[in-house]
Amino acid sequence: MKTIGVLTSGGDAPGMNAAIRAVVRTACENGIKVFGINEGYKGLIEGNLQELNIRSVSDIIHRGGTMLHSARCREFQEEAGMQKALETCGNKEYGIEGIVVIGGDGSFRGARDLSLRGIPCIGIPGTIDNDIVSSDYTIGYDTCLNTVMQMVDRVRDTVESHSRCIVVEVMGNKCGDLTLNAGIAVGATAIVIPEIQSDIEKHVIERIKRTQTTDKKHFIVMVAEGIGGVEELARKIEKECKVESRAVILGHVQRGGSPTVRDRVVASQMGYKAVQLLMQGIGNRVVVQKDDHIIDYDIYEALSMDRKVNSELYKIAHEISI
Ligand code: F6P
Repeated sequence: MKTIGVLTSGGDAPGMNAAIRAVVRTACENGIKVFGINEGYKGLIEGNLQELNIRSVSDIIHRGGTMLHSARCREFQEEAGMQKALETCGNKEYGIEGIVVIGGDGSFRGARDLSLRGIPCIGIPGTIDNDIVSSDYTIGYDTCLNTVMQMVDRVRDTVESHSRCIVVEVMGNKCGDLTLNAGIAVGATAIVIPEIQSDIEKHVIERIKRTQTTDKKHFIVMVAEGIGGVEELARKIEKECKVESRAVILGHVQRGGSPTVRDRVVASQMGYKAVQLLMQGIGNRVVVQKDDHIIDYDIYEALSMDRKVNSELYKIAHEISI
């Protein structure tokens, strides 16, 4: 393989830049030309590409976001859009023979479709949500977790001062990993995630009432984005538990910030591995972390895996948050 492309797609995540850097440097060190494709699959359709060299990716390892910009592209889901993307790859100016796609499951479906049409692609899991079933870890998750923890720690100061209850909505699409883990880290009284059926009366209201009998006066309730309804829940708690309550939606503040060590290192390992695979002419794979090892799976196989929730962790959270 003489020329490859790299793109970031879907929601950006801290550590994507570290992955791009690893892809570009590994390729350049092995005599492969690299094109950065701007704005994900949209840029591939529109021919919005730039050649990158080892210096183009200097000074980005510590930056959140993605230097290549990102987008969610509907046009690429249609055959016509995909054909335009293939034309860009085949264009004499570029001659792209393989692509590294950094993103989530939706982006991997695109990578699989391109691989099936003759452009080998390698997926790298990049999303704050940690919702890629085939991988124990997704780039951006650790940074996001720490951001959520820091934000809620701040909220705790004011909640404690006013003896209030705060209901925090945590982003994470349909996945409760961020909410559960951050909930433990901030000492939440109650955690509500989509994977585990929660009875609001029993798991939130009664729980707060029980801790009130132990003289607790301020409360943090963490609710996953996939559940929603934080304003209503705050009003219900205020009415039934007689504690002044507020709701906070963290939103996109969670997606920004300088990546943690973990995100930079995993991103570098995954970027390196992706190029190694392409160099062997291997495509239609996704690079994942499994039991602390970086390995790869067939994209189709990866997309059909079943998600398991960490119910043991949920049980611990429940038991010690009293
Ligand atoms: O996938 C990352 C994520 O931030 C999710 O947690 C959230 O549901 C979604 O993206 C928000 O998407 P957008 O930035 O398009 O509003």
